[in-house]
Amino acid sequence: MRGSLARCPNGSDQAIGRTQAETIRGAERAIEPVAPVLHAFHLHAKFVPTTKMSRRKNPYAKPDHLTRAAKDAGFPARSVFKLEEIDRRTRLFRGGMRVLDLGAAPGSWSLYALTRIGLAGKLLAVDLEEMAAPLPPNAVFLRADVFAIEDDLAGRFAPYDVVLSDMAPKTTGNRPTDQARSFELFMRALAVAARLGAPGGSFVGKIFMSDDLPLARAELRRLYATERLIRPSGTRAVSTEIFAVGQGKHR
Ligand SMILES: C[S@@+](CC[C@H](N)C(=O)[O-])C[C@H]1O[C@@H](n2cnc3c(N)ncnc32)[C@H](O)[C@@H]1O
Repeated sequence: MRGSLARCPNGSDQAIGRTQAETIRGAERAIEPVAPVLHAFHLHAKFVPTTKMSRRKNPYAKPDHLTRAAKDAGFPARSVFKLEEIDRRTRLFRGGMRVLDLGAAPGSWSLYALTRIGLAGKLLAVDLEEMAAPLPPNAVFLRADVFAIEDDLAGRFAPYDVVLSDMAPKTTGNRPTDQARSFELFMRALAVAARLGAPGGSFVGKIFMSDDLPLARAELRRLYATERLIRPSGTRAVSTEIFAVGQGKHR
């Protein structure tokens, strides 16, 4: 059964496609076939925003080809292609790793990470909203606010080899407000990673570009041996988001 398209819990570029129950009914079964499908997709397709797309009144309103591709590969949201590209460029994951996914709903990043860490890995997913489907036994979902969650809960599988944050605020339309909230979410995720991340581990955090970006990057450089910015090709042309990646966490 093909599901209907739906927006991300916080209104950004997400879509619910093939129902998650169908996708990860017995998530172990879905784990193996999904990543090859994505890699095959990337061999044959590249996201090039067209002038027509950028002129569209609301580019989030209609499913684009990446939304449909994600759905066909069994992921609830097109965001999976962003993490796949970041992973390809930074070699983020290995089998057996422990991963903390902050801002995990509806679940594309968690599902992708699970395909990469395998059943020997562990993943804790955290979000204000529910995930679109149950996770496999080696993953746990916590419905919580990242500003309120205690380390003993968030640290369930710590120390984490990889801390992910695709968190985004509910946008207000007021750019400075949205940028400030995105900065706060990024810095909070980084603070969690500072406490619960494993030495040598990695961090990926989404942030809306603003004058605060250099501050965020400086903090990332303080905590990690290497720091870089990645704007995946699947990012919508209208979006100001970028991903800051730290690798080689200091002790
Ligand atoms: C872009 S969506 C994440 C998409 C997800 N990575 C995926 O691939 O399915 C951003 C998420 O951040 C979550 N979020 C925003 N503020 C949060 C907070 N304070 N604590 C936890 N989650 C938060 C939202 O609820 C939303 O689900």
